[in-house]
Amino acid sequence: MLGTLRRSSVISAIGICVLVTVWLSSGRLQNTSFGSSIVSTISQHTTPTTSTASTAAIVKNSHLPAPVSLYFNQVFSPDDANPHDFPALRKACDRATWHEDVYLQCGGMFAGMTSIMSEVKVCFKMAVEAGTGLILPTIPIRDNTNLLEFNNNDDETGDAYMPYDQWFDTKHLVETLGRACPKMKIIHPDQLKPDHANKVAVKNHWEIDVSKAPGYHFTVSHFWTGNPFRKFFDDQLAKLEKDSSTTGTGISVIKIASLFLLYNITNDPTGGDLKLWNELAMLIRFLEKPRQIVNQLLTHINRPYYGVHFRAENDSIWNSAEDQMHNDLDVLDKAWAKYGKGSASGINSQKPLVYLACGDEKQVEMFAEVGKTRGWEVTHKWELAQKSANPTTLEMINALPFDFQGAVDMGMMVQSYFFIGISGSAFSNTVAHARDPIGRYRWSSLEEEDDGGARTHIVSDGVQSSYPCCL
Ligand SMILES: *[C@@H]1O[C@H](CO)[C@@H](O)[C@H](O)[C@H]1NC(C)=O
Ligand SMILES: *[C@@H]1O[C@H](CO)[C@@H](O)[C@H](O)[C@H]1NC(C)=O
Ligand SMILES: *[C@@H]1O[C@H](CO)[C@@H](O)[C@H](O)[C@H]1NC(C)=O
Repeated sequence: MLGTLRRSSVISAIGICVLVTVWLSSGRLQNTSFGSSIVSTISQHTTPTTSTASTAAIVKNSHLPAPVSLYFNQVFSPDDANPHDFPALRKACDRATWHEDVYLQCGGMFAGMTSIMSEVKVCFKMAVEAGTGLILPTIPIRDNTNLLEFNNNDDETGDAYMPYDQWFDTKHLVETLGRACPKMKIIHPDQLKPDHANKVAVKNHWEIDVSKAPGYHFTVSHFWTGNPFRKFFDDQLAKLEKDSSTTGTGISVIKIASLFLLYNITNDPTGGDLKLWNELAMLIRFLEKPRQIVNQLLTHINRPYYGVHFRAENDSIWNSAEDQMHNDLDVLDKAWAKYGKGSASGINSQKPLVYLACGDEKQVEMFAEVGKTRGWEVTHKWELAQKSANPTTLEMINALPFDFQGAVDMGMMVQSYFFIGISGSAFSNTVAHARDPIGRYRWSSLEEEDDGGARTHIVSDGVQSSYPCCL
């Protein structure tokens, strides 16, 4: 129920509703030069990629549980990701009944980067379950300084919309799907344009409104194994086909909003849905620049570090920067007492460095100063890059859009020896899920229960004490 959601969710709900409406009423598509290259990529996508031996040597992640190390490799490795089998995705694709020449065109995706990643997973899951092809989505990027400005002009031709290949590694997506889900065909949005060299003819432009699914409430997980998306989709598609009088050849393009938190992936008693979800997350690999920067920063750190998501950017709607800082420092002390020197599970004898994930260069200075008085050496991406012998690292960071700088911080958080996040933040929760071998944050690693090696604590925020299900 929307009424029970906290302020942050409601704010995103309003924003996303507006965007869904704008998106559904717009028929135009983005122009990029990628369209023709994806066709050749698709035709070769059965060639497996190989990783170079150097990657494993550079990225030290033996302290991570194996599934977390795998996630890091698939999403952040500087060179090609290691070949991985994606068994849950393979199973879901084998099980699906495939609709020839029907493609989903997901839209309505926007917000911060980790919310977008969750919406992309919703899109992929809808296509796998419905057994359709996929038109790579276009997603708006937000303004670098005014983080509440999504530049979503008046339709999706607005400059801020970038096709998937400008957000994430499309070669990885196409190659992985080619191996694990060969029946799912992928088209670049440019290929729908009449003048494109590898143009795809469209017979039907259709639309399915997921928010009309019986009982649906925005941001309350709706579909799950007991209420499958596939059934809803097939009913809607049958209606569209029955009412259609188009003749000729071509594909059917179905516009559909990739709604935030559409799926509850934790209530499948077999656990299969969660496994699929975790594998879908590994399809969303960052572009080369943020991946390289993560790797370079890691080489500048010569001892274990704890990661803190300091949500102090000026669009924060949660606890003040000062409150967060004091809470985080308390948790750092507790984590050090439990996992540090003197404990049986001690990771090292020297007090770890603290790396702050934060998009505000001023706030990190405050944390570093106060941290010092409490015996913690605190650093962040700008400082590490400045100290680096390689001046291009800092240039590379500063050249990245805000959300891609967030990708750098995300990689650093996944790699940390202990992670501290904040309950209301999608970024914090996404990192916490990624660090747990089961793909879900279970409980604080400061508790007595076995944390599976997740080494994570989410600080409960006064404004939003938990995140709605399921990122
Ligand atoms: C697409 O964009 C390129 C520049 O990126 C431009 O040269 C070309 O004319 C555009 N094509 C269309 C059809 O808008
Ligand atoms: C945040 O600060 C930047 C300058 O650092 C400013 O341009 C922007 O408008 C601010 N945003 C909000 C929401 O206050
Ligand atoms: C999702 O499923 C879990 C496990 O059954 C349940 O506890 C939770 O309430 C569900 N969440 C939503 C939003 O339906």
